Amino acid sequence: MSSTSRGVRIRVREGLCIEAKSDPCGLVIFGASGDLTRRKLFPSLTYLKEHGLLPGSFYALGAARSAMTDAEIRSLAPELDAVYYLRGDYDDAAAYRELKERMRALDKTHQTGGNAIFYLAVPPELYPVILRGLGDAGLLDGAAPGGWARVIIEKPFGRDLASAMELETALGAYLREDQIYRIDHYLGKETVQNILLFRFANSIFEPIWNRSYIDHVQISVLESIGVEKRAGYYDQSGVVRDMCQNHMTQLLALTAMEAPTSFAADHVRDEKSQVFRSINPLAAENVVLGQYAGYRSEAGVSPNSRTPTYAALRVDISNWRWEGVPFYLRTGKKLGKRAAEIAVTFKRVPHSLIPQLRPEDLEPNVLVFRIQPDEGISLSFEAKKPGPKLCLGALTMDFDYDEVFGEDPPEAYQRLLLDCMQGDQTLFIRRDAVKETWRLVEPLLDSKKFEPAFYDPGSPGPAAADALIGRDGRKWRL
Ligand code: BG6
Repeated sequence: MSSTSRGVRIRVREGLCIEAKSDPCGLVIFGASGDLTRRKLFPSLTYLKEHGLLPGSFYALGAARSAMTDAEIRSLAPELDAVYYLRGDYDDAAAYRELKERMRALDKTHQTGGNAIFYLAVPPELYPVILRGLGDAGLLDGAAPGGWARVIIEKPFGRDLASAMELETALGAYLREDQIYRIDHYLGKETVQNILLFRFANSIFEPIWNRSYIDHVQISVLESIGVEKRAGYYDQSGVVRDMCQNHMTQLLALTAMEAPTSFAADHVRDEKSQVFRSINPLAAENVVLGQYAGYRSEAGVSPNSRTPTYAALRVDISNWRWEGVPFYLRTGKKLGKRAAEIAVTFKRVPHSLIPQLRPEDLEPNVLVFRIQPDEGISLSFEAKKPGPKLCLGALTMDFDYDEVFGEDPPEAYQRLLLDCMQGDQTLFIRRDAVKETWRLVEPLLDSKKFEPAFYDPGSPGPAAADALIGRDGRKWRL
């Protein structure tokens, strides 16, 4: 099969599309009456079904405190055949006995082999409560003898290193690591998965992917929206917990990691953890935090809140590959544009052959992974403009997902749900990464040390962030 667009062409080799088979299973969604189920989980399950990727034997059972009937929950996912609902309190042992009976019955009806995924779409304070309920009811060994049980949780994984480790202790009391699927939805994004393929399925980039050829890397996740209706959560959290500890450090790890032995989950996760361990502690002069003007008057935000909504960091990795190559990370809300990308800027040519031009007059090559929107990859290089005169200019070779494939990349949750059904933990966060990333960002939580600088909504962020990168003689790309 091939797909073409303005000279960009992909030849997909038949037989080389790897898609493991999912085991039969039931999916129990705690907090099913909430937003995540309606906005992400049911649409993703529907997509998987329509693409023939759901296991033939499957059911979804919503569980939550609100009263709801099977018919009501089915109306949220009409294309799915087997959707059910069970009302119960999360701390009521009887509710888990009832859940067990219901799952046993559904397991028989749908032939799911006792396999069950528990998706905890609830506030994190409830994770230990639900785990205890499930554990005491014997459901974490599977819904029936011979079955497996897996648990999916989402960030925040704690508020700091100590509380994250407390949560890990609670998880570890009931589950083995191979049963725990910690979601960072950025890892489910198609464009993010492509970073590893791009780096390790091509031979031409890896030899230059190091301090000898790369000048610096910029990782930006810029948002134009503010805290919207999530102020209650956000004001207690802030950008460091909300974005830096998770999405930003994951993007950094994928860009900086060594080649894993294989794409097996632990091979990939070992190499990512190795990056986290090589990052130097963040010095105060390498950190700028900001807060957008007007944030304090958003509904639900404390009027003298010091919660940062913006962060710019210079991160240095001490190892053979990256010594001396700065990674600039930048993320924030209410900025002038919505754009997420990783830009790898190569070193300038060492010498110019043209007397009128100095090496610094030539643009350095930049390789950009555009994560969203306008998903794609581009590479810029200098080229001669046609004509008798010698005119040089920077050209960009551009691959755009939409142009080549004719559709937007799929939703992250589709991939992540499917991977959990298949028992593939590659795109999920391992315990050691939770610990290492908290260790890295925890110093930024000290609000006495880091006073956020104000920036105007719709601007590129605080002026101090320009100074941070400007100090090194560089500029933000976006
Ligand atoms: C979430 C954060 O994890 O990621 C949000 O809690 C943020 O504050 C969101 O807006 C960004 O995700 P995406 O997929 O919209 O880039």
